[in-house]
Parts: sequence; C-alpha cells; structure tokens
Amino acid sequence: MTDPEAGTLSGRHIVLGLSGGVACYKAAEFARALIKSGATVQVVMTEAACAFITPVTMQALSARPVVTSQWDARQPNNMAHIELSREADAIVVAPASADFIAQLAQGQAGELLALLCLARPAERVPLLVAPAMNREMWAHPATQRNVARIVADGARLLGPASGDQACGEIGDGRMLEAEELRDELIAHFQPKCLAGRRVLITAGPTFEAIDPVRGITNLSSGKMGFAIARAAAEAGAVVTLVAGPVHLPTPRGVARIDVRSAEQMLAAVLPLARSHDIFVATAAVADWRPAATSEHKIKKDGTGATPALAFVENPDILATVAHLPVAERPWCVGFAAESHDVVRHARDKRLRKGIPLIVANHGPSTFGRDDNALVLVDADGERELPRSDKLRLARALVAEIAARAPRAARTVA
Ligand code: C5P
Repeated sequence: MTDPEAGTLSGRHIVLGLSGGVACYKAAEFARALIKSGATVQVVMTEAACAFITPVTMQALSARPVVTSQWDARQPNNMAHIELSREADAIVVAPASADFIAQLAQGQAGELLALLCLARPAERVPLLVAPAMNREMWAHPATQRNVARIVADGARLLGPASGDQACGEIGDGRMLEAEELRDELIAHFQPKCLAGRRVLITAGPTFEAIDPVRGITNLSSGKMGFAIARAAAEAGAVVTLVAGPVHLPTPRGVARIDVRSAEQMLAAVLPLARSHDIFVATAAVADWRPAATSEHKIKKDGTGATPALAFVENPDILATVAHLPVAERPWCVGFAAESHDVVRHARDKRLRKGIPLIVANHGPSTFGRDDNALVLVDADGERELPRSDKLRLARALVAEIAARAPRAARTVA
C-alpha cells in the first residue's frame, strides 16, 4: 500500500521548535512523520527541551544540525533568528510548555526559539503551537490568559488533547500525537476552497437486520466517504458524516453520526439536509431490507426447511434529498458503483436521481481498497480522475465540487 501522505508536504520547509516537556519524545516521531511526508525540517530546541531529549536524536531524524542558541556561529551572518524565520513555510512549536507560551504572550526573546517566533514575518509565516503540560497548569487562569493572548496575536493552537498524562493525572493538556500533528499541518496547507460551507456526507454500507444476529449488508468499506469527509474538513468546510457500520476513525474536526440501517440513515440525513449546502452520498445503501425483522434468532427446525425471506425496497436517501423544495435542498453529489458500462449507467442515474453531479466508479475493483479511479459525470459531460489513493482523489473531488457548487444563501458566514 502506498502512503497517502507521502509527498503531501513536498517543498515545505518547517521550523520545528521544542520547548521543555516530557512530550519532547513525541516531537521525535513528529519530525520523522514530517520528513516522510516530504517536508524539510529545521529543529530548534530550548535549553529546557535539551534536558528531555538530545539534539543528537533530533539531528539524526531531521538530517540537519539542530540549532539551540542565538549565538550559533554557524550562521554566516550570526543572525539565526532572522535566517531561520525567513526561510520557513511554518513554525511549529511542539511541545509548547506553559513557560514557553508565557514567553510568547509577553513577546520575550531571551532564547532563540522565542526570539525567532517574535522575529517571524507574521503575514507570511504561520506560527502553530501544540501545548503540552499538566492539566492544572493548562487550566490555570495565567496559562489561559497567555493562550488567549497568543491566539489574538495570530498563533494557531493545535490541541491540546485530553487523556492520561505523564504525571499520572487525567485531563486536558496532553500534546496531540505525532500523526495528528502531521495531519493538522497537512490540513493547514490545503486550499480552503470550501471555507464556510456545510457539507453532509453519507458513507459505508447499511446493515438490514433479519433477526438479532443476522443481516444483509455489502462490501463497502466506507473509506471513500471518510476520505471525502477529511478532505472537505481540510478545505475549511463544516462537515457532518453519517456513517453506516464501519470500523474507521473519525477524521479530525468532523461531526459523526453512526447509523445501521437505510431507514436510520434517512432519518439522520433528512433533518440535517436543510442546514447543509452540499450533500455527498457515498454510502452503499442496501436496495432492499427484509420485510420483517424477527424478534428472536431464527432457528433450524431439523426438517431441512429454509426460512422464506420477503423483501421491501429501502427509501432512496439521495433522491429524497434531491427532491426537497429548492430553497431547502443542498447541492447533491451521488456515487455510482457499477460493475460494467460504468459511465453509461452513471449518466442515466444522474438524470433519474435529478442531481447535478454523479461520481462513477467500478464497484468490484474499489470496495475495501485504498485506491480508486473516478469519472465525474455532469450536464457538461465527463471528466476522469485517474487511479490514485482515496485521500488524494477525495481532495481532487472536493476541489471539483467547490468549483461547481453555487454559494447558496444558506452558506454560513
Ligand atoms: O441507485 P444506486 O444505489 O445505484 O445509486 C447510488 C447513489 O445513490 C449513491 O450516491 C448512494 O449513496 C445513493 N443511494 C441512496 N439511497 C439508496 C440507494 C442509493 O442515497 N437507497
């Protein structure tokens, strides 16, 4: 499997600042994740950070000498704070200790890391700060004041998360994990083509119960829908994801509603559709469900007789949303998973469902896989998005949707 994040940060130069905290060990993993995503990383460490992890480790991972002092004579002009802050595409401080955040809030410049944050050209070089500290330190009014100050001054907070802490306590203040930080940074650099728009997405299969232990479902993994949810959130949208039964982690920043059957999916979608600007139906909704669900497990009776199952048709969620009154209707995107004549069937389906855009793919060769190939079918014709991993495809699709979907009156400010 190819790493979907490989190359996502190619050409980006990140200054990774470490201040003092146990979470410095996660910064080593974070540096590695950034390099694997294609970024170049210049590590800058405070004196306190060097008490937790050695510059040798960070140098080995970043393949560059670590800078720890503003008096570092290796800089030709001896102005490390200027050089380092000018060449960065972003400065990320991870971990950011309570003390370091206080320094930032006050504009102190006693150590190189604080100095280069102060010296950065703020309009061009974003400052992202990942706090890491004990929960009492995080909750202290002084820290909260300082955090509010640095945010007002233009810094962006990454986390913190809640959970077990190195000190043995449980609460807010944990630094995000290395992969979460990497994903936040990748999201930071994505074009904000859906900023302010609300996107509703269905994903995964549905499960139609026969009895309490059996049911009918299909091979949809939900991966495409979850990738679209992530890509839409990265593009600045407010995203609601209605998911059938799948075991996938919820993309960061996405509101998720879990459902099981097609009827439950419709019940979740319908009240939300009116408050969303765009609806992307990727779910492989079961066409039929058993006419009746047995309250108890259906047992063999020893005669060899088989149960007679009768079916009824499920509601078509996409068509129902697409036929809401115009003022209440989001801009609808459907998916068509076909086994043959993919584009012809997709064209017919787009007209039948009454939607502006349908995304065709070859069902049997995509279900459960990490890659896919898509054909976009709209009133103007077809456009192919060639085979790629689902996250890259989702980002491309989100850009296509953003370019087509009109900005509705309901768009949030
Ligand atoms: O009709 P068909 O299942 O081929 O159409 C596929 C498209 O319609 C997908 O976008 C799917 O999410 C949506 N759909 C739906 N409700 C159904 C059946 C399909 O929303 N009951």
